[in-house]
Amino acid sequence: MSEQSLGEGASGFKARAGWTREQAAKIRRTDDTVAPIVYPPDDDQIPEVHIWDTWFLRERDGTLAEVNGYRVCFSLTAPADLLPGKRHDVATIRCFYSDDGRNWHNAGPVFDEALGQRQWAGSALYDDDGSVYLFYTAAGEDDAEELTYGQRIVGASGGTIHTGDGFAIHGPWTHHELLHPDGERYEREDQSRAMIYTFRDPWFFEDPATGETWLLFEANSPVPEGSDACGGDAEQQGFNGSVGLAHSPTGDPLEWELQDPLIDAVGVNQELERPHIVYKDGLYYLFISSHLHTFAPGLEGYDALYGFVAEEFSGDYVPLNESGLVATNPANAPFQSYSWMAFPHDDEVLVQSFFNYFDFAGETLDEIAHLPESEQMRRFGGSLGPTLRLDVEGTKTKIIGKLGHWHIPMRGETLPPTERELIRRARAGEDAASSYHATEN
Ligand code: FRU
Repeated sequence: MSEQSLGEGASGFKARAGWTREQAAKIRRTDDTVAPIVYPPDDDQIPEVHIWDTWFLRERDGTLAEVNGYRVCFSLTAPADLLPGKRHDVATIRCFYSDDGRNWHNAGPVFDEALGQRQWAGSALYDDDGSVYLFYTAAGEDDAEELTYGQRIVGASGGTIHTGDGFAIHGPWTHHELLHPDGERYEREDQSRAMIYTFRDPWFFEDPATGETWLLFEANSPVPEGSDACGGDAEQQGFNGSVGLAHSPTGDPLEWELQDPLIDAVGVNQELERPHIVYKDGLYYLFISSHLHTFAPGLEGYDALYGFVAEEFSGDYVPLNESGLVATNPANAPFQSYSWMAFPHDDEVLVQSFFNYFDFAGETLDEIAHLPESEQMRRFGGSLGPTLRLDVEGTKTKIIGKLGHWHIPMRGETLPPTERELIRRARAGEDAASSYHATEN
């Protein structure tokens, strides 16, 4: 994979492609990219914990695993009585399972002990032999007295799922430090000039076309002081997010070699969070989540799911819908959802995310902290939100509907017709009225 000379405005760093300021300047809410408003669900399925970043147990080929009839997911969690803004400091990975893709149950914390002061997002592999690998971010130095913000990528092996007498996930787990930032392709914390530093969110991907095995992650590209990147604008240079990449030459989930980033966003955005790929119609769709407040000065974006597409895994990636914007929150509820994760189902792409702050339309998320604590608690969803339905075709995407909170369809489950489809059928004279209410559950 050769380093590319990047398009106009791209950073020219080691990445294979850049998300340019010209592209990001086109970010606008449109009918195709704004998700419906989210209301609190009638019942909170798992009231005992706050739940945010969530990932599903997947097989090597990327399909969501169904283990003896169970869908399985892992989430960052914290006790439900904690002030939501403090949850990142105590994040613990818990496992949840469902035998119908709608009703979920708490299988408890996955690890007795794990690396880092707390564990941040990752991904999970259900390997061909039935063993479970959990990739996660070890945040903070284990023995430091204060909270620290260094991050390492860890793989835990040894997990097994038992379904004989109800659902259980067991170790013993062995935790392997897989990747550290090298300071050249990937910024170390001591090189960081920004308010937020990232080296996290490992996501396992076996390329169905080539069989090659990759780990994607969120990182930052080092920009030395005095660099002429962004026309020498030091402030813009501080916004240096990238999608990091490592390769496993043998396919072993615990052996990785750092590669050049897949994409970077120097001068555009500081955090390209939870990168992941959906392989569809022979194309590679790369998705990330990002925040309104992590765009570089002079650019305006939203808390949103952004995406890129390439004909080959190694790129070049071009932004979807020209700007990269795929799904965002409505302007009157700009922080209702975050941390989106896309996966294929039939010929659609479904997107799950967590229900974040609702009944709040402040300028930035920081304003939440100025509300009384009781209001911060009341307005935090802290559970999985509705699942979005996306139509994805070439470089264009369109939100075409949603499923209920926590609805992750089972394998082979036929989705209800979308509203658009029902209207089409009604116009064509078919009797669709009876199934109208099935579009949302
Ligand atoms: C996104 C995120 C992840 C990180 C986690 C920590 O919601 O910033 O990148 O792993 O939150 O809570």
